[in-house]
Amino acid sequence: MSDVSRPSPSEARTGNPAGTSAGTRTAVVIPAAGRGVRLGPGAPKALRALNGTPMLIHAVRAMAASRAVSLVVVVAPPDGAAEVKSLLDAHALPERTDFLVVPGGESRQESVRLGLDALPPDYDIVLVHDAARPLVPVDTVDAVIEAVRDGAPAVVPALPLADTVKEVDPAANPGEPEPVVATPRRARLRAVQTPQGFDRATLIRAHETVTDDVTDDAGMVEQLGLTVVVVPGHEEAFKVTRPLDLVLAEAVLARRRLNDGF
Ligand code: CTP
Ligand code: MG
Repeated sequence: MSDVSRPSPSEARTGNPAGTSAGTRTAVVIPAAGRGVRLGPGAPKALRALNGTPMLIHAVRAMAASRAVSLVVVVAPPDGAAEVKSLLDAHALPERTDFLVVPGGESRQESVRLGLDALPPDYDIVLVHDAARPLVPVDTVDAVIEAVRDGAPAVVPALPLADTVKEVDPAANPGEPEPVVATPRRARLRAVQTPQGFDRATLIRAHETVTDDVTDDAGMVEQLGLTVVVVPGHEEAFKVTRPLDLVLAEAVLARRRLNDGF
């Protein structure tokens, strides 16, 4: 159950690179309110199962795996908050981790804002993590938190690209040839993932100030004129978007089980 007034027991813990240090508390907002149109018909994407467990539960566990994280705010499908709440009640989280569930909005941006509105005051670092990235390793989470603690107002995990990227003049109808406008140098490009980490006040200011449509929160902080830094992402932090991604996610889980000796 959510009990946000409970002091973080992780303050007393040691031995973790991103363990709670004096004066900083970290919360994660997980936008999980999308339908998952590109995944095809079915339940909202975050509630689809991966090896029998809802994707959202994998994502919440991935965040709770970090000792620095003491609160997870799940932004549920607008009509699914009660279902999400009972799912979270049914799947154990570490004792140090509290959770809250709020209903989401029409866009990812709106869902994140609704999650931020529900944040209790005593968290000064906020991560935003897509429910659709259920398999991000804890080392990536900790690296993001550490970079925020080191003073960056906004931090994104990202990877170099495998494909060369072309900017085009998009065609009016799908399938029509599209003229290429530019070819950015691939070595300068990064594909960004989540969790993205923020100084709380900066992220809230970005959400209050920036009204353009954006696909990531760090982009809003860039629009404030602040520097966003990139730390190394991880290939297992990929976003489950299309049906083939489900196959990949289950393969990653199967490989983990093998490596864990089951
Ligand atoms: N999201 C959200 N609220 C919305 C739309 C998206 O909380 N109104 C969340 C999704 O649940 C997901 C994350 O934002 O965890 C990233 O979005 P995306 O991968 O695009 O998921 P969907 O929007 O659900 O998928 P699609 O675009 O294919 O419909
Ligand atoms: Mg979407």
